[in-house]
Amino acid sequence: MADALPDALPFSSRRALMPMWGQTALPQPAWPERWQSLQAAAVPDDALAYVHIPFCANHCVFCGFYRNGWNPESARRYTDRLIAELEADAACRTPGGSIRALYLGGGTPTLLAAEDLARLLLALRATLPLSDDCEITVEGRISHFTPDKVDACVAAGANRFSIGVQTFDTAIRRRLGRKHPGDEAASYLAWLASYSGQVVVADLIFGLPGQNEEIWRRDIDTALSLGLAGLDVYAFNLMPQLPIVRMIEKGAFPPAPGLAEQLAQYKIACHQLADAGWAQLSNSHFGAPAGGERNRYNLQIKSGTPCLAFGAGAGGNLAGVSYAVEPDLGRYLDTPARQKPLARMASGLAGSHWLAALQGEIESGCLALATLPVPARIMPLLQDWAGKGLLMLDGTHARLTTDGRFWGPTMMRQIADIALPDHRAGQTMTLHPIHTHKETA
Ligand SMILES: C[S@@+](CC[C@H](N)C(=O)[O-])C[C@H]1O[C@@H](n2cnc3c(N)ncnc32)[C@H](O)[C@@H]1O
Ligand code: SF4
Repeated sequence: MADALPDALPFSSRRALMPMWGQTALPQPAWPERWQSLQAAAVPDDALAYVHIPFCANHCVFCGFYRNGWNPESARRYTDRLIAELEADAACRTPGGSIRALYLGGGTPTLLAAEDLARLLLALRATLPLSDDCEITVEGRISHFTPDKVDACVAAGANRFSIGVQTFDTAIRRRLGRKHPGDEAASYLAWLASYSGQVVVADLIFGLPGQNEEIWRRDIDTALSLGLAGLDVYAFNLMPQLPIVRMIEKGAFPPAPGLAEQLAQYKIACHQLADAGWAQLSNSHFGAPAGGERNRYNLQIKSGTPCLAFGAGAGGNLAGVSYAVEPDLGRYLDTPARQKPLARMASGLAGSHWLAALQGEIESGCLALATLPVPARIMPLLQDWAGKGLLMLDGTHARLTTDGRFWGPTMMRQIADIALPDHRAGQTMTLHPIHTHKETA
């Protein structure tokens, strides 16, 4: 796909739609009855499930997902409570339906003991209607993911591992809070791919402080050499609350590269991966040729597919109602076993179901013009973006260029603002740590 090189950046910031954009919170007294009716129905066909494991071995300074430090006892207690949540939900639900992708995300699911990983996965298989071809992902990092845990996951049905690496550059890794040198991270991933025999994907971040183009090219080359099935490339999101912000202020890190440098690094990744024959499966995800990567959960969650949620801090949506499970670990653990530990319920904006579908199309890089909502408002935006080299219009579709794919979240936000102006104020954010999906951009 042709890339245009705009003289100036088309947007001054790169921002996404808030996950709860346009939703109306349901008052707490209404939750039990609403939850009961949602919960009693069968799982829809083609649904997803997300399970959150809110523990980390340390707080990596670049990350906004950290919630709780890990210790074996609280992780075991947490697994017990999570299994009770799964069983209580299953006991009320009408049988039927089908879950086509299940994601254990974090935090760091691979920190759980082998025994806890096994009993959790087996409980998920026993309580949820997983399809025969269900994509079952376990997220984590290389530290503490020992062969006995890999064996336990595979024996209990996991068929995909998503491992956060961020960069293979040892000096940057150390400052980020990752103790293994880059070459150990690389050999671990190569080992995991061949030893597990499952789909292994890795996360890399570009635009980190100190990460220049040369380092980033090497990161992609290294990733390409490991037998991985997939690769996520995320733009570094410098949220104000991150510990790294203080480190930059104190001079412990150089300033983070700006948007123009991030865009250049994104394009380097897209070109290197395309040259190696990898397919672009979403704006930030790539699949190796014949690697078996489906990326089903990540693609469908963006399109608003119904998703069941379990575990402290998890977010889900069913029948137009989104909900969050209690994020506070103590309160989650102390909720009686038969009660769903809910922290929020909200209903979607009437008539805005197209928003999620459009978000899915932007992720896939191609918008069908025939199904555009309020075309009179959105077509002028698309024409403007075509002039700026962000997309190409061919009469039936708008196809995002590589530049357009970098700015995809910002374009989505602008479309929502223009199409539904009444909901504009205060409804955007500079990307988000929400636990339905690890992706932050
Ligand atoms: C929720 S984290 C969990 C991964 C795993 N615990 C780890 O430590 O690698 C998932 C991914 O989010 C991405 N991420 C975290 N903080 C980010 C940030 N500030 N900007 C961009 N991506 C970020 C990282 O690539 C990370 O692998
Ligand atoms: S990168 Fe992973 S391990 Fe580190 S703080 Fe974030 S979620 Fe936790």
